[in-house]
Amino acid sequence: MGLIPGEVIEAVRLRSDIVEVVSRYVKLKKKGKYFTGSCPFHQDRMPSFTVTPDKQAFHCFGCNTGGDVFRFLMLKENLTFIEAVGTLAQQAGITLPSTENPAERERERRWGRLRQINSLAKDYFRDIFKYHDSAAVARRYMSGRGLTTEVLERFQVGFALPDWGSLLEFLGEKGYQPREVAEAGLAIKSERGKYYDRFRKRVMFPIWDVTGRVIGFGGRVLDDSIPKYINTSETTLFIKSHVLYGLHHARGAVREKGYAIIVEGYMDVITAYRYGIANVVASLGTSLTREQGRLLMNYSRNVIIAYDSDAAGVAATMRGLDLLQELGCQVRVVNIPDGKDPDDFLQRQGNHAWESLINQAPSLIEYKLQQAVSIKPAKTVSDKLEVMLRVFPNLVGIDSEIEKEEGLKAMARLLNLSPETVAGEFKRFEANSGKKSTNTDNIAKTKHNIFNNEKKLDTKAKAEAGILRLILEDPSLGEIVLEELGEKPFSSNYFQNIFKYVLAAYKKPAYQPAELFNYIEDDEQALLSFLLTLEIPGDNYIQIMRGYLESINRCKRQERREILLKEINEAEKSGNDWLLNDLWREYIVLKGITEAEWTGDHGRVASLMQENQHILKTGSWKHPREGSDGN
Ligand code: UTP
Ligand code: MN
Repeated sequence: MGLIPGEVIEAVRLRSDIVEVVSRYVKLKKKGKYFTGSCPFHQDRMPSFTVTPDKQAFHCFGCNTGGDVFRFLMLKENLTFIEAVGTLAQQAGITLPSTENPAERERERRWGRLRQINSLAKDYFRDIFKYHDSAAVARRYMSGRGLTTEVLERFQVGFALPDWGSLLEFLGEKGYQPREVAEAGLAIKSERGKYYDRFRKRVMFPIWDVTGRVIGFGGRVLDDSIPKYINTSETTLFIKSHVLYGLHHARGAVREKGYAIIVEGYMDVITAYRYGIANVVASLGTSLTREQGRLLMNYSRNVIIAYDSDAAGVAATMRGLDLLQELGCQVRVVNIPDGKDPDDFLQRQGNHAWESLINQAPSLIEYKLQQAVSIKPAKTVSDKLEVMLRVFPNLVGIDSEIEKEEGLKAMARLLNLSPETVAGEFKRFEANSGKKSTNTDNIAKTKHNIFNNEKKLDTKAKAEAGILRLILEDPSLGEIVLEELGEKPFSSNYFQNIFKYVLAAYKKPAYQPAELFNYIEDDEQALLSFLLTLEIPGDNYIQIMRGYLESINRCKRQERREILLKEINEAEKSGNDWLLNDLWREYIVLKGITEAEWTGDHGRVASLMQENQHILKTGSWKHPREGSDGN
């Protein structure tokens, strides 16, 4: 950030209508001041997704994703902030000033060229595959594997000629240096400093980013030689572990079906598509990474892993399961019989058999149990305990109580134990493990705890949220808050940070709350968008603010009373009578305030408040040895 001047970002924001942008992806319905729809970031039946046009913000009450129009595009299209601003600027007819920083400009230019190289190479390989005499063997190979012209077209399958320099030559004619082709991962520099093509005599599968731009290739041999596949070497553009093959094709179907299937290889994705199964992506090799998981979760949290059922596949599945659960996904596993992969299975058995595999796919817990007992049948008590201990950590990570119970039942069945015994062991395990959710992703967890939704906020957090909402609308109210509640008025750092930014931002002319999205972190963005959806209950902001402040002070008094009771308890034990006396005095005043509030005796509330202030100022119990005896 910081590369595009703030005024320009704000100009782009003003010229882009968030409702219009969101509508390209989500069917929105007007509801008073808001628009609502099904959330595009999680499986949403509610609909929990809200867009607030006058605040130019979106927020989902289901998954707590939220932000401004830029963040929406970033998430939806997997763009960087700069790219999102650029996209909307272009649509709004605003030219972004060229970046000041020469290094940055150079980087942009080089990236552009790497993209062009990939795109040209894709067309080049494609043409060879279709028309070149030397590609006849590749065409035969692919049609032998069942690929029709339509499928070949969709997946842009190509062929690299057997010689050592034809791609370099082709790109050279277009003005690209061998050095650049190597930088794009498509050529290799020999020890003697000569460049040669990386891919030779291979069927070429382009790999796309989420927006459908080619960023790399996988190339397969036509026989049994090794290595079977090679990929573009890791480049600035292509980081294999961050890519899901086929995602840009699959994402629509993933959203529609409500789940994604992850397979290992190119051909699994392609064959699945051929059989009408479009919600499939490949992790390209066996280990699913956190980045890949996160990428997928933009489209669905329900994931089915359909890896090869060989040993490597099973081990990879196990790792993938834990990772996806940690990220907060609901995971199931397809068991493909006989060590085959989805490609083989579909070709042999067809899609009906496949569908029943999907329908019977065991949950993560069931799968882990099955694997645990298949390695070593659980006969003795200690075997059974071992299995339980292996699976319990995953159970702890499950949020839904129903699912947890299902898991425990499955465990009891499989181990031939009573459900009570298993549940008892699980309780013990949970108690010993100390923490409730070992398996939850940190980001998701903090988000969850801080502001799961409005209903779950406690009174104090609600009042704090209300105050922050008012300040967003009229930042000058911040001064009152500072005066009443001190330098750090909010109990959560998230609130505190947003507060800090409003106070810093509002002195500028033409302040608008959505601007703050520029300065804050992802989690805070979600919180900010949530706050902006809150309705302000009336027009008299000062009066509303007073109400919230009172409510916070009440909570503070309540907290103080709880502390006092503990201190009283200790003072009693240690026999410190004069301290005990002071503690009681404060306690009784605080209790009196609560009672007077209940009965609506405002005069008494006021006088007790004064007395409380006095106690706080003179508080002899704070300075036990300093002559308060004489008072
Ligand atoms: P597999 O060995 O299971 O290959 O590797 P596959 O997908 O079934 O290939 P076909 O059906 O024989 O054509 C799964 C994935 O692992 C990566 C590739 O992404 C492959 O699709 N892989 C495999 C490599 O990158 N290099 C290799 O040598 C092998
Ligand atoms: Mn295969």
